[in-house]
Amino acid sequence: MSVFEEMESNVRSYCRSFPVTFTRAKMSKMYTEDGREYLDFFNGAGALDYGHNNDYIKKRIIEYIESDGISHALDLHTDAKRKFLETYRDLVLAPGKYDYKVMFCGPTGTNAVEAALKLSRKVTKRTGVFAFTGSFHGMTLGSLSITSGKTPRAGAGQPLYGTTFIPHPHFHPEIDTIKYMEELMCDEYSGVEKPAAVFIETVQAEGGVIILSDKFLRDLCALCDRMGVLLVVDDIQVGCGRTGKFFSFERAGIVPDMVVQSKSISGYGLPMSLLLIKPEHDIWSPAEHNGTFRGNQMAFVGATAALEYREKYELERKTFENEALIKKFVEDRILILEKDIEYRGMGMIHGLDFGKVKIDNAAGKIGRECFERGLVIERAGRGDCVLKIMPALTIEKDELMAGLEIIEKATRKVLSGK
Ligand SMILES: Cc1ncc(COP(=O)(O)O)c(C=O)c1O
Repeated sequence: MSVFEEMESNVRSYCRSFPVTFTRAKMSKMYTEDGREYLDFFNGAGALDYGHNNDYIKKRIIEYIESDGISHALDLHTDAKRKFLETYRDLVLAPGKYDYKVMFCGPTGTNAVEAALKLSRKVTKRTGVFAFTGSFHGMTLGSLSITSGKTPRAGAGQPLYGTTFIPHPHFHPEIDTIKYMEELMCDEYSGVEKPAAVFIETVQAEGGVIILSDKFLRDLCALCDRMGVLLVVDDIQVGCGRTGKFFSFERAGIVPDMVVQSKSISGYGLPMSLLLIKPEHDIWSPAEHNGTFRGNQMAFVGATAALEYREKYELERKTFENEALIKKFVEDRILILEKDIEYRGMGMIHGLDFGKVKIDNAAGKIGRECFERGLVIERAGRGDCVLKIMPALTIEKDELMAGLEIIEKATRKVLSGK
C-alpha cells in the first residue's frame, strides 16, 4: 500500500483515475517518477491554461521571491498587488470598457462564489437565488446550495436552502426558459420568492460542456435588468480566455453584475480568486468578507505576467485557431466512428458525450485507454459520460494533434470491444 493510500483521506479523487506519481511537468507534458511521459488534456481542471511551469511566468515569480518581495500580506497594499491591478485594468477591463471593482477573496474559487452569494443578498435584501440544473459552483455550503449534483450536495450533511433550479435550456429546448423564469419571478402564485441573483456558467464545464447560446445570455441579462435581479457569471473554469475572449460572456456582449474568477487567473496554478463587482453593488462594509489568504503575492506576480503573456503570444488568436483544428478532427475522425456520440465545444473546451452510446461506461473505458496511451484526460457530466478536452491554451499544434489521435485510437478500441 502506498503512503497515499495509507495516510490520505478517502476523499481523494483525481489520483484514483491517474494512479501514478508525478514528479515534473513542462507546459503540456507531465512526467512520472518511473520515467513515463503524459500529454495533459486535464489542465489542472482549468488552473493551468498557460501550461505547467511556463518560463515567462516562472522567471517573474522566482525574481520576486529572490528579491525578498512580500510573500504574505492579507490585504495590505503591496507593489505586487498594485502591479496586478494596473495590468488587469489596462489589459482586461479598459479594452472591454468594463467598469468593475475588484474584490480579492479567499484563495479558492468557492470562496469567491460565497462572496458573490453574500453580496447579492446584501444588495437586493432578498435571499433566494436561481441556478441551473447541471451547475457546479464549488464545495462549501453556499456554493453547494447552487450546485445541482446529488453526490456533492449529499456531502453537505445538512439541508441546502434557498436555490430554485431552473431546467437548463440545453436539455429542455421545448421550454421557453426565459419566460418560465419571468413567470416564477412575477406570478404571485408561483410559490417562489423573487431571487437576489441568477448564477450561471456560460459553459457548464463540470456539467459536461453544456453551452448557453449568445441569444440566451442576452435574453437572460435583459430579464435580470427588467426584474432588478443580479446576474452573476461564474467564470472560474471557462474564463481567462478558455472560450477565446478573456471573459466567456464577451461573445454575447453582456455585462454581468458580478463575475467570479479563479483557477487560471494566477497563471501558474497558484491559489487565487477574485470577484468583479459593478461599482453600484460594492456596498460591503470593511472586513465583511475577510480571510487570511486574500492576497497571495506570488499569485499576483504570476497573474500579472500571465496577462502580459496572453497579449505577447496572442493566445486569443491561437485559441480560435485551435478551436477550428479540434472541431475538424472531431468531426472527421471521431464522430464518424459511432452515430450516438454527441459533441459540443468552443474555444479550447470540448466535450465528447458517450451518454447515448450503448456500451457500459464508454467514457470511463476510453479515458482509461487514453491514460494507458499517455494522455491525461478527465470526464464530466451526468454519469461522467463526457470526455472533456481541455488542454492548456499554450499547447503546441503537434501536441494537440497527438492527444486527439490518442482519443481516436482509444475510442476505436473501446467501440470495437477488443
Ligand atoms: C465553474 C466552477 N465554479 C466553482 C468552482 C470551485 O472552485 P474551487 O475548486 O477553486 O473552489 C469550480 C471548480 O471546478 C468550477 O469549475
